[in-house]
Amino acid sequence: MSDAKLNAAKSATELIPKSGAIGLGSGSTVAVFAEELGKRIAAKKVNIRVVPSSYQAYQLALEFKIPLTNLDLDPELEMTIDGADEVDKDLNLTKGGGGALFQEKVVASASKKLIIIVDESKIVDKLASRFEIPIEVLPFSLGVVLRKIQAMGIAPTVRQAQKKMGPVVTDNGNFILDLKFPEPINDPAKVEIDLKMIPGVVETGLFIGMTDEVHVGKEDGVYILKK
Ligand code: A5P
Repeated sequence: MSDAKLNAAKSATELIPKSGAIGLGSGSTVAVFAEELGKRIAAKKVNIRVVPSSYQAYQLALEFKIPLTNLDLDPELEMTIDGADEVDKDLNLTKGGGGALFQEKVVASASKKLIIIVDESKIVDKLASRFEIPIEVLPFSLGVVLRKIQAMGIAPTVRQAQKKMGPVVTDNGNFILDLKFPEPINDPAKVEIDLKMIPGVVETGLFIGMTDEVHVGKEDGVYILKK
């Protein structure tokens, strides 16, 4: 595990309230955070339960003995801790590199604060600089969504599974399209609206105006970007 991820995760752990419900994001950086949170719970330093944002997060909670809850029992969360694939200068995000984005966005929207943990490689000037934008698509609508995305001048690829033939199937039973934009995105809020207006697009990996803090881990420390 990289020290950069550990430093970001430890920094976010300092923000955890003494008790209450928080959202647990997904990804390899969140896995490091979950281990740190599990240690704090075991040491009785905090009394925290989590809403997992994916099957991966659910399994992390089980592995590190973190009590589980859900959005029916806890529809308002103190905060969510999550990772990201890109963070722009306005703290807008690209997420979904691991196939989880829909539940992540719902959990983040239920939270008073969204705290992002990344290493420095994720910081970009504009989104879609290095990472394609994932969207989650209802399988029934795939053909028409592909056609409409192409008509917008964007190149979509149906994400393919590893160790299983065929497309990735998300935790919600949908497909993922990775969108290659001709150039980095100038107005991500508009792109988000344009994509979500396409019937069959369940959710996008663009998280616009949701982030409160980004804890950026480096090999030898951490710094925090705030809204
Ligand atoms: C999961 O689909 C994503 O939204 C992750 O939060 C994101 O890909 C960051 O993951 P890493 O921490 O593994 O880079």
